[in-house]
Amino acid sequence: MKPIKVGLLGIGTVGSGVFTVLARNAEEISRRAGRPITIAVVADKAVERAREITGGQVRITDDAYSVVADPEIDIVVELIGGYTIARELVLAAIENGKHVVTANKALLATHGNSIFAAAQKKGVMVAFEAAVAGGVPIIKALREGLTANRIEWIAGIINGTTNYILSEMRDKGLAFDEVLRAAQQLGYAEADPTFDIEGVDAAHKITLLSALAFGIPVQFDKAYVEGITKLTAEDITYAEQFGYRIKLLGITRRQANGVELRVHPTLVPERRLIANVEGVMNAVLVQADAVGATLYYGRGAGSEPTASAVIADLVDVTRLHTADPEHRVPHLAFRPDRMADLPILPMEEVVTSYYLRLRVEDKPGVLADVTRILADDEISIDAMLQKEPAEGEDQADIIMLTHRCLEKRINAAIARIESLAAVRGDVVRLRLEQLQ
Ligand code: HSE
Repeated sequence: MKPIKVGLLGIGTVGSGVFTVLARNAEEISRRAGRPITIAVVADKAVERAREITGGQVRITDDAYSVVADPEIDIVVELIGGYTIARELVLAAIENGKHVVTANKALLATHGNSIFAAAQKKGVMVAFEAAVAGGVPIIKALREGLTANRIEWIAGIINGTTNYILSEMRDKGLAFDEVLRAAQQLGYAEADPTFDIEGVDAAHKITLLSALAFGIPVQFDKAYVEGITKLTAEDITYAEQFGYRIKLLGITRRQANGVELRVHPTLVPERRLIANVEGVMNAVLVQADAVGATLYYGRGAGSEPTASAVIADLVDVTRLHTADPEHRVPHLAFRPDRMADLPILPMEEVVTSYYLRLRVEDKPGVLADVTRILADDEISIDAMLQKEPAEGEDQADIIMLTHRCLEKRINAAIARIESLAAVRGDVVRLRLEQLQ
C-alpha cells in the first residue's frame, strides 16, 4: 500500500530517535498502521548533521516552511520547540490540510485552544502524546482508556530533571545548587534549566492533562507555578522523619466550584508508589470514580522513549486519516462543542495539608502562642516535632504538619505567626498531599 509521507521538522535528540525507531521497526509499525510510514523530508538548520543521521536516505532542507507547504506531505512532525516559529509552522501545516504531530507542550499549553480550533475547522488531527511524560502513554489513557470515568484528580511527577535533583538531594543530603551543577555537568539538566527547576515545564504538562481530564480549555496562564529552587536539604530530611518524601508534583483536581491547577514541591507519604519514583523517571497518578487509582510510569524524556510516543501518534493518524473528522477522537478528549466552563481556582481557594517549619526562641509560651493562632484559624495540627537547640544556641526549629485547610487560611495564620516576637525569620511552608 502507498506509504504515508511524513515531513520531520527538527532532527535533534527526539527527531533522530523517530528516524531510528521508524527504520528499525518499519515492518511491525506498518503491520499496525496498515501501510508504511515514511519520512519523506527532514528540515533542520544543521543540514550536514541531518544528513549524517539519516545516512543520505532522506531529502534534507533547511527551510521548514517549504515542508509545511509541500503537497507530497501528509503529516508534519514538529520537533523544533518554542512558541514562535513552531506556532507559525503548525498553523501553516494545518491551513495546508496536513495533520500535525508535536511534542511541544509549551506551544500547546499556551496556544492550544487556537491551534485545536484551527485543526477542527480544517478537519485535521493534532496529536501530542510526546508532549506529556515522554514515552508514557498518558494522553492515550485519558482520551480513550478512561472515557467511562469521571476523573477526580491527577497528580504527576512530570519533569525528570527536577525529580533527579530531588532524588539526589535526598540520597546524598546535598544542597539544591550543588546537585544542579552536577546534573548539568552530566548532561541531565539543560544549560539553561529555568523551565525545569521553576516548575514551568511541569505546569505546561499539567495544563494539558487538566484540559483532557475535565473537558476544559487549556489555561496555562491560570496555573499556580512554584519550582524547587528554594527547597532545602533540611526540609527534605525533616519530611523523611515524618515518613514523607518531597516531589515536584503537577496537580489538577475537580472541586465543587472549579478546578485546581498547580505545580509545587509536595510532601507525599513514602509508602505511596509515586513517592518511590526516583531519578529521571516520570509517573502520573489518576484518580477516577469507576476504575479508582491508576498509575502510569516510565521515561519522560530521551531520544527513543519520546520517539515511541511520536510514532504512536503517527500510527494513530495513519489509521484515522481517512475517517470522517466528526468521528475521530476529539483533541482534548471531549467534543469541542461540549467543553465545560469550570473556572481554574485561584491558589487561595485550594484545599490541601501543610508542612510548616519555624525557628523560634526556646522559651516558655512560644509553642502555645503558635498553636493558639492555628486553633483560632481552625487549622488542625496532625503531627509536630521540636528540635532541641544546637549546642550554645537559644533557637529551636518547630516542624508541624496540618490537616487539610483552605490555602488562604494558612496564609493568614502564617502572617500572624511571623509577627510573633519570638519567631525568627520566615515560616517555611510546603504543601502535603495524602494522594489516597
Ligand atoms: N525537560 C523535561 C524533563 C523533558 O526534565 O522532564 C522534556 O519535557
